[in-house]
Order: sequence, then structure tokens, then C-alpha cells
Amino acid sequence: MEITVVDHPLAAARLTIMRDARTGNDGFRAALADLGAMLVYEASRDLPLESFEVATPVDVAVGHRLANPPIIIPIIRAGLGMIDPALSMIPDAQVGFIGLARDEETHRPVPYLEALPEDLSDRRVFLVDPMLATGGSLLHALRLLADRGARDVTAVCMVSAQPGVDALAGSGLAARLVTATIDPALDEDAYIVPGLGDAGDRLYGPRNIDL
Ligand code: PRP
Ligand code: URA
Repeated sequence: MEITVVDHPLAAARLTIMRDARTGNDGFRAALADLGAMLVYEASRDLPLESFEVATPVDVAVGHRLANPPIIIPIIRAGLGMIDPALSMIPDAQVGFIGLARDEETHRPVPYLEALPEDLSDRRVFLVDPMLATGGSLLHALRLLADRGARDVTAVCMVSAQPGVDALAGSGLAARLVTATIDPALDEDAYIVPGLGDAGDRLYGPRNIDL
């Protein structure tokens, strides 16, 4: 499995703001948006281009655009915070949605929404979620995408835990991973240690719906 850990001073500084327990919802959202753009930028490094002629005020230059923009698929809720930064980098991308929430007892993902194109076989997919903990949510989402024919998926996660990375690597599911860090462990509630807490709550406040 191809793993890219983005090692950049600006990414490290935004991640630190997100980790800091004193950062409020507004500061967390802003730092997540900045880091999201940086990770999507890195995930886009090898996207194929097509060229065309563009008239400058002086002459004609060779211009470039994405040949086949990826589809951005956030895992709701926390992945919602990564849509705008992803679209700021790739304005012509389409967006699909997967809704999952971890059961607090079992830590298994409970699906509640799937709004995706039927056929993803010719699409490059950026699956975005700030957190990769046990890997249950990401693996569930990857299976949904595989069922729709997706063969080229890049998971963009901000904080990945080693157990989740190991689960992804051992799953046999083909996906690249772009992340800002791989943290060593999970606690007894399957939160990432040291992590940043509950990303959805830190973005939006407590979730008060029964699934
Ligand atoms: C978080 C996170 C991931 C998942 C990671 O979502 O955004 O989707 O947990 O954990 P896992 O790797 O152990 O599956 P959560 O289920 O808390 O829902 P939320 O985004 O609605 O808060
Ligand atoms: N989901 C989160 O939001 N944070 C964790 O640490 C683990 C799962």
C-alpha cells in the first residue's frame, strides 16, 4: 500500500492547532480547512493533465487542466469539513457522500447515507475523512466504492492511527493513503492517542441523534 505522510512545516503547525484541546470550534474548522487543502494538494500530485493552447496578453502558451478531475467523497460528519478545501484545490470536482457513525459500544460503523454515482469505474476517487482510527469506517466506505467499480481510490485522512493503517494494509482493498501523521495507538474507547479527540464534535459540536 502506498502511504504518503505529508511532512511540511505548515501542515505540522495546522495539525498542532487541531490537536490543542484549547482550540474552539471556529479555530478547529479553520485549521482543518487549511490542512485539508494541503493534503488534497499532495494527493493530486500525479493526476493526469491534458494540454491546450491559451492566449496570453503577449503570445500563445501551452496550458494545462486536469484530464479527469477526481470525485471527492467525504465520510460524514467530519469529512464534510474537507469538502470546501478540496473544492478550493479542484473546483471542477464532483462530490458524493457516505454517512457513517461509529457505534460507541462496538466501535463499528453504522451506515446512514449513501449518495454516490452508480458507476465509479472510470473515476478517480478522493475519499476524505479527518480520522482513521480502527479503520472500520474507511474499510466500510472502500467496500461501498469497490461495489460501484471504483479501482483508483486515495484516502485523505489527517490523523491516522497505526492499527487503522495496519487494518487497511491487511484488508486487500486497493487504496493509497495521504495523511498528516500516523499516531501510535488507540485508547479503550478506540480514540486515537494522542490524536485530537472527536473530530466531528470539534468541528460541529456534539451529535445528538440516535442512529
Ligand atoms: C469518526 C471519523 C471517522 C471514524 C474513524 O467519525 O470521522 O469516520 O470516526 O473511526 P474508525 O476508523 O474507528 O472507524 P464518527 O463515527 O465519530 O462520526 P462523526 O464524524 O459523525 O462524528
Ligand atoms: N473518531 C474521531 O473523531 N476521533 C478519534 O480519535 C477516533 C475516531
